[in-house]
Amino acid sequence: MGAVYLRSSGHSLESGISDRGSRIWADHNESVPVLEVRDLEVSFGPLRILRGVGFDLEAGQTLGVVGESGCGKSMTGFAIMGMLPPGGKITGGSIKLDGKELVGLKERHLREVRGEQIALVMQDPFTSLNPMMRIGEQIAEALRLHHGLSKSKAWTESVEMLEKVGVPAPSHAARRYPHQLSGGQRQRVVIGIAFACKPQVLIADEPTTALDVTLQAQILRLLRELQEKEGTAVMLISHDIGAIASVSQRIAVFYAGRIVETGPAERVLRHAAMPYTRALLNALPTAGKKRLEAIGGQPPDLADLPKGCPFSPRCPFVIEKCGEEPGLLDVEPMHRSACWRGSEVITGVKPVEIH
Ligand SMILES: Nc1ncnc2c1ncn2[C@@H]1O[C@H](COP(=O)(O)OP(=O)(O)OP(=O)(O)O)[C@@H](O)[C@H]1O
Ligand code: SF4
Ligand SMILES: [Mg+2]
Repeated sequence: MGAVYLRSSGHSLESGISDRGSRIWADHNESVPVLEVRDLEVSFGPLRILRGVGFDLEAGQTLGVVGESGCGKSMTGFAIMGMLPPGGKITGGSIKLDGKELVGLKERHLREVRGEQIALVMQDPFTSLNPMMRIGEQIAEALRLHHGLSKSKAWTESVEMLEKVGVPAPSHAARRYPHQLSGGQRQRVVIGIAFACKPQVLIADEPTTALDVTLQAQILRLLRELQEKEGTAVMLISHDIGAIASVSQRIAVFYAGRIVETGPAERVLRHAAMPYTRALLNALPTAGKKRLEAIGGQPPDLADLPKGCPFSPRCPFVIEKCGEEPGLLDVEPMHRSACWRGSEVITGVKPVEIH
């Protein structure tokens, strides 16, 4: 059986968890979500790659989305943006922005939503930047388009934005082309462009994966600062549960095209209620841990899912009942897990101790 290792930024989980997150969430939990995703299904022909994804995003909050490669994190972001690759279709469910349904909107209307209300930051800043255009002009263009600023005002604001996102010598840097900046600076520019549009929702898909650990932490801090200042709702996608621990108020763990655990970050990270989340956490370096535990087995093949719980072939807690796939079940207030044994798993007992 093969072993799957999680990529890790080397963040210590203990130092990464913030209880600040759950406090903020508790303060806000009565506010109305900006984005509501319900029972979202995406298919490529007969292949269902999202199997009923649902979550809320609230203003000023970050939802950390984690899971192994191929579990559907990016496709969820693309579906919300209305930017699924050719052949991909939303085959069920609903995506509401400010109460307005986006599923089924015509491309012309979706284009208005994209950029203005929802922005996407991707892993590789090169794919988002125009190599032939000075970076100052690229930010200015976003400002002109979305805020109707004059050319000179847009240029001034674009230099200010470069300063805000921490690009050194901003008036100088504004005249540079993307290839003349470092990877970390380019990612700051992309984030600057995204925030220049003042979106209500920002989807950041592995925005720091290509960067070294120090830069990763800086970029995540920058995202958090801008988000708090602007009240943006952020969906932060990552392989690395450790990297997003300190900036997320809520966590959603994906597996085989659906969410299998969701709850306040501090609860999910310290009291995981799904064996898969526990496996992800055990694969992280923490203080005093001598050896990282690999997640045994292979990620599921969406074209040939096992009967019942899709984690069952890899699950040390498996029982007969797992031949039926569980829905998301409450394990404690606002904390749900797609596991028949969630309320036992959350107590932290070892699989052999459960009968
Ligand atoms: N063009 C396509 N046609 C058919 N299936 C696709 C296509 N693109 C992606 N998929 C499938 O959709 C599933 C979800 O892919 P997605 O890109 O959302 O994964 P992910 O969780 O973002 O993974 P990663 O961490 O590697 O970025 C995968 O199983 C993938 O094989
Ligand atoms: S439902 Fe069963 S197989 Fe699935 S994670 Fe829970 S215990 Fe494991
Ligand atoms: Mg992806």
